[in-house]
Amino acid sequence: MFGWWECSGTFNREILEHFIWGKKMVKKVAVIGGGTMGNGIAQICAQNDLKVSVTDLSEEVLVSTVHKISESLDRMVLKNIIDNESKERALAHIHTTVSLENALLDTDIVIEAIPEKSELKRALFERLGTMASAEVVLATNTSSISITELAAKADDPERVIGMHFMNPVPLMQLIEVVRGLETSEKTIEMVMGFSRELGKTPVLVNDFPGFVSNRVLAPMINEAAFVLMEGVADLQSIDQVMTLGMNHPIGPLALADLIGIDVLLSILEVLHEQLGDDRYRPCPLLRKYVAAGWLGRKTGKGFYEYPRGRISE
Ligand code: NAI
Repeated sequence: MFGWWECSGTFNREILEHFIWGKKMVKKVAVIGGGTMGNGIAQICAQNDLKVSVTDLSEEVLVSTVHKISESLDRMVLKNIIDNESKERALAHIHTTVSLENALLDTDIVIEAIPEKSELKRALFERLGTMASAEVVLATNTSSISITELAAKADDPERVIGMHFMNPVPLMQLIEVVRGLETSEKTIEMVMGFSRELGKTPVLVNDFPGFVSNRVLAPMINEAAFVLMEGVADLQSIDQVMTLGMNHPIGPLALADLIGIDVLLSILEVLHEQLGDDRYRPCPLLRKYVAAGWLGRKTGKGFYEYPRGRISE
């Protein structure tokens, strides 16, 4: 009788060693984009003793990335979730660079977390396709952009996959793993195993606008914004109805601030354009806030205000 690895046609030594000897699927990760999601992803990789390179457009952003990771780890120390030694060990695993080429050195997987703009991501995947060696898996943390479309830009679409982490990454259990049209079984096995090694629960879904998470969530938040704009209720009341009445841990408008109103608007634009249905039309209030720079927690103001120093997970 043949084992699955002999008959599946997807035989892979690393995957075999992972199952038999518990060998790690990944030793080094390159995170591209050190913003809200990039810093969370880098943090949990480092906490799991993986080497991490974070790359962004400027040294200034990267200094802030490491600072935010350090603050998040401090909060974990204060809550006795980790000790000081673990914090220092995690920080020592993180290396930052503005050079994509340096970030890719010796990496097993790239996790892209740059803004939710299709033209930016397409250009990056085109570069990654030529710069990252053939065995490196190319994952994107996109919330809504087609994995299949990004994969078409890379040299080898079989190694491109969605790895949709939730915000805040250190606290949230789910990784929505998104299979593009040509993503290989080998890539899927690797990413499912890697996600579990990070202590997360991966759920595999197919590539379609918004996947499952944002196809369901973004329209709900959008509707809450319309309800506010139409004066049906005030901000706090809308969030209270949903927390107290529906048992949601956080109200939809507070969640919009956590996600980033710019990110939410981009997701709704993708849903509206690609599904062609007006039920996904972004609420004009979202556009107005983005135009004003009211992006949510990250700018200190969105639907709510966040005085400096009070932003916490
Ligand atoms: P962000 O705006 O906080 O961070 C993006 C970072 O990427 C910035 O620091 C920016 O300087 C950098 N960047 C831009 N172009 C770059 C390039 N070519 N190379 C390297 N760095 C570059 O955005 P955020 O919120 O972290 O989102 C990143 C991705 O994660 C988006 O695709 C978003 O849809 C997705 N996402 C966001 C969630 C959220 O709650 N914010 C939740 C799940 C996924």
